[in-house]
Amino acid sequence: MEKIKRGIMYLLYKYIGFYLPRNRLGYGFRNVCTKGFLLNVGQDIRIEKNAYFATSTEIGEHSGIGYKSQLFGKVVIGNNVMMGPECVIHTTNHAFDRTDIPMLKQGCSESSPVVIGDDVWIGQRVIILPGVIVGKGAIIGAGSVVTKDIPEYAIVGGNPAKILKMRK
Ligand SMILES: CC(C)(COP(=O)(O)OP(=O)(O)OC[C@H]1O[C@@H](n2cnc3c(N)ncnc32)[C@H](O)[C@@H]1OP(=O)(O)O)[C@@H](O)C(=O)NCCC(=O)NCCS
Repeated sequence: MEKIKRGIMYLLYKYIGFYLPRNRLGYGFRNVCTKGFLLNVGQDIRIEKNAYFATSTEIGEHSGIGYKSQLFGKVVIGNNVMMGPECVIHTTNHAFDRTDIPMLKQGCSESSPVVIGDDVWIGQRVIILPGVIVGKGAIIGAGSVVTKDIPEYAIVGGNPAKILKMRK
């Protein structure tokens, strides 16, 4: 029964909530659906319009998913996390070990979850690659491509993202 309820909430999000505007109705509807199908989700979350995320996503208290952002696979978001528009988080790659058959036929690598610590600010159009752990209090500058773990309270930017300075 619980599984069916979660399935219905997921479908309501996918086919209605995803498209609703950025107003009270839209945010409220998306919140109810999200809380209905995610297993680990905090209070006072903010899911923006057109946000795609998997059912394995975890979201802490007061955290959000950015407008038109796409989170593929298991992403664990801490508390008080801000995410700008059009971010992309990947947790798998296409397999490419063999050269005798097309990559298209090699499937995907094993999934490596991405973990975002508490109080992180992810700027607009950030891309985070599989397995990355973002430390508490970090800031990821707009347009960054994050390939490696980010230490706590670091401000990073660029492609690949490097430390620009520290908050403390
Ligand atoms: C990362 C950020 C917070 C840093 O702000 P700041 O502390 O005021 O940084 P500064 O402007 O003083 O820049 C410091 C250095 O970092 C560089 N830098 C800043 N932002 C960068 C970015 N996104 N990518 C690469 N380098 C960046 C600057 O060029 C500068 O380099 P220099 O010292 O060689 O001249 C800000 O630049 C940023 O990207 N904000 C995100 C905005 C956004 O996406 N908003 C959407 C709403 S959530």
